[in-house]
Amino acid sequence: RIWFGTRGSQVQILPPRPFMKINKVVVIGSGTMGTGIAAHLCNANIPVTLLDLKTEISEKARDKIFKSKPPLLFDKSKVKNIEIGNINDHFDTVKKADWIVEAVVERIDIKQALYKKIFKIRKKESIVSSNTSTIPLKVLSQNLSKEDKKDFCITHFFNPVRYMDLLEIVKNEFTDKEKINFLKIFCESLLGKGVILCNDTPGFLGNRVGVYAMQVAMTEALKMKLSIEEADSIFARPMGIPKTGVFGLYDLIGIDLMSDVLKSFIKELPKTDEFHVVAQEIPLINKLITTGYTGRKGKGGFYRINKSSGKKILEALNLETGQYSPAKKINIQSDKVDLKELINRDDQYGKYAWSVLSKIIKYASSLVPEITKEFNDIDEALRLGFNWSKGPFEMLEEIGVKNFFNKIDDFKNNRFLENLSKNKQENFCKTRQKYTNIETFGKVKKVAVKIDKNDSAKIFRFKDFNIVEFITKANALDYNSMDALKKATDKPLIIINEGMQFSAGVNLNYLMDFVKQKDFKSIEKFLKYFQETCKHLKYCENPVISAPSGLTLGGGFEVLVQSDYVIAHTNIVLGLVETLVGLIPCGGGCKEMLWRWTQTEEAKKDSDFTPQKVFDIIGYGKTITSPMEAMSLKFLLTKDKSVMNRNELLPISRNLISKIKNEYEPPKSPIFNLSGSQVRDKMFQTLENLFREKKILEHGMEVGKKLAFVLSGGNTSIDKKLSEDDLYALEFEAFIQLLQMEKTQARINHTLKTGKPLVN
Ligand code: NAI
Repeated sequence: RIWFGTRGSQVQILPPRPFMKINKVVVIGSGTMGTGIAAHLCNANIPVTLLDLKTEISEKARDKIFKSKPPLLFDKSKVKNIEIGNINDHFDTVKKADWIVEAVVERIDIKQALYKKIFKIRKKESIVSSNTSTIPLKVLSQNLSKEDKKDFCITHFFNPVRYMDLLEIVKNEFTDKEKINFLKIFCESLLGKGVILCNDTPGFLGNRVGVYAMQVAMTEALKMKLSIEEADSIFARPMGIPKTGVFGLYDLIGIDLMSDVLKSFIKELPKTDEFHVVAQEIPLINKLITTGYTGRKGKGGFYRINKSSGKKILEALNLETGQYSPAKKINIQSDKVDLKELINRDDQYGKYAWSVLSKIIKYASSLVPEITKEFNDIDEALRLGFNWSKGPFEMLEEIGVKNFFNKIDDFKNNRFLENLSKNKQENFCKTRQKYTNIETFGKVKKVAVKIDKNDSAKIFRFKDFNIVEFITKANALDYNSMDALKKATDKPLIIINEGMQFSAGVNLNYLMDFVKQKDFKSIEKFLKYFQETCKHLKYCENPVISAPSGLTLGGGFEVLVQSDYVIAHTNIVLGLVETLVGLIPCGGGCKEMLWRWTQTEEAKKDSDFTPQKVFDIIGYGKTITSPMEAMSLKFLLTKDKSVMNRNELLPISRNLISKIKNEYEPPKSPIFNLSGSQVRDKMFQTLENLFREKKILEHGMEVGKKLAFVLSGGNTSIDKKLSEDDLYALEFEAFIQLLQMEKTQARINHTLKTGKPLVN
């Protein structure tokens, strides 16, 4: 032991305590959550054993992991790394585990009986946690000794574990603080979670406010006689909330599960809690549950798919009559997220939005400091656990403190609001992501200099680099997005977003508006600018880093693939999917993929290998769902990095810039040798086979031929040299020709309407 003095006090430096490592985890309960947790531990390369009542159950669970969609594993081939077993024959595995996660059914007696067994044999240093969402820590641990209580906590993961960033760690006065902090850091850095420490209060932070919000959204819709489609179009993107809305989310979670959750809140919360007002039983919901309409997993719920006419038709439930009819698309005549505008609308949508929002804000603020002293943690729990773009406090700030108090009726006994109404501090949400020490993009944005902004993107300057953030719906790209990128390269540049997606590609609505007006000149202008910008990103004198997470498709992928480096979140979806809407990549995607595959050993042996390989990748519109898969298609290269924790995208990108900026040199432009009609004939043969097998139809053939023309180098031969500009020109011609075709337009319209591809 070493002792030394700091400012008169004695600080003891202890050697690392022996428990401070997690080399082996046992997860007990291989249902929805247990499988998700085990799969994610496997993603982090941590040895894990998954137990259940019978080995067959955990074996089935492992199969489910393998087949899961969206995939729970980064790399499916690792599924066998998850060991399986049952709690009778393989309980000894608990002896060797550093962390034992209990994820069995939500029954106190079953859980407590299990803890008795676990604590009898577990390693002294180990951590034991429960994934419960409703049972208080004090109840779960009531039979444990004081010593054992130190090592016991709740680790509340969200479903699906790989994709939902929130992890609430619940502790109380008995838990070992040092151990909890260690677990927090472990889950943050190795599992990539946004870890928020919570007190032992019902529903913790996320569900307490999130479920309340859902109930308010539902009960207000019923009160105001809105249809479920109307409610789901307001309590959604217009509020910065996912487009599933409230009734859609109910169906997704399971209407029966929601009912159990509500019962538990009713049991746990004092009668005076506002939650009771919105958690009353609703006869219609009881009827849905008893008739098997439990949501997506059942016969349907508030929505259902009706296949009786031979077609799949989405139907919605009429809340008054209980009858289903085809779901209506609601046009609220606004595409922006503008809370102020929304709550001040002079129609029932405005009234609904205000009623729901003001109640959520009132409830969330009434819980400070009871459930947490840090109101920012409530905002973050809603952002991480429910994918809201802002939490209730940030929403209040956006509405404006003065505006809010002018509109609100009463807020008696709400200390937080009483204080705020007195000090009227407009910018009271000072920082984001207080739960972590990482210097996240959210934190940096608050202090960075805002250099420029248009309707599609923002440019920030922070220290010695610039940041571009796309801000459109799904971050779809248009002329303005390109303009921002082009303007931001006077310094090293990081392209990163706080929104869920990096970019779903070029904005097809934007393109189709020009098509409707037969304004192909404007389309040509945009495409040229798109190509010019991508080329500029690649050859400008400063390094460019793309830091994507979520969807990075089509044009979004072309921006990424022409950046110098990619720092990718592990939950990325990458691909060139243009052919699905009857187009081909035109921002350098074809050219860049050709170049990447030209560097391979196979390409050196066979000059036609590369174009055929790329034809296969782009022709099928192949997408990948992790950086590991991306490597195999050369969507990412070995110089790129992948990161588990989304919060770390910015700091890691920033470190890379510091490392490379002094010796950075733009790449040399490539020369292509392609065999023209020689390889094209082979591609046509492939197309004809696909056509004969009815895997593609007439227009699929047309699109395939245009793609083949570009990837074969057009009218060329293997001895001729093609420049990057030659390939850009081929992409451009093919794109314009395809866009002018009626069948491509039909594909685009269909995808815009349904979100699905049209095969024609
Ligand atoms: P589940 O019903 O899908 O799976 C429970 C599993 O536990 C089953 O495979 C069952 O055979 C097994 N089991 C029951 N008794 C056992 C025992 N004594 N020993 C070993 N295995 C046993 O449940 P789910 O949804 O995975 O929930 C597990 C826990 O996670 C619950 O405490 C729940 O409240 C919580 N939770 C659930 C969420 C969700 O979305 N499903 C989200 C967050 C937390």
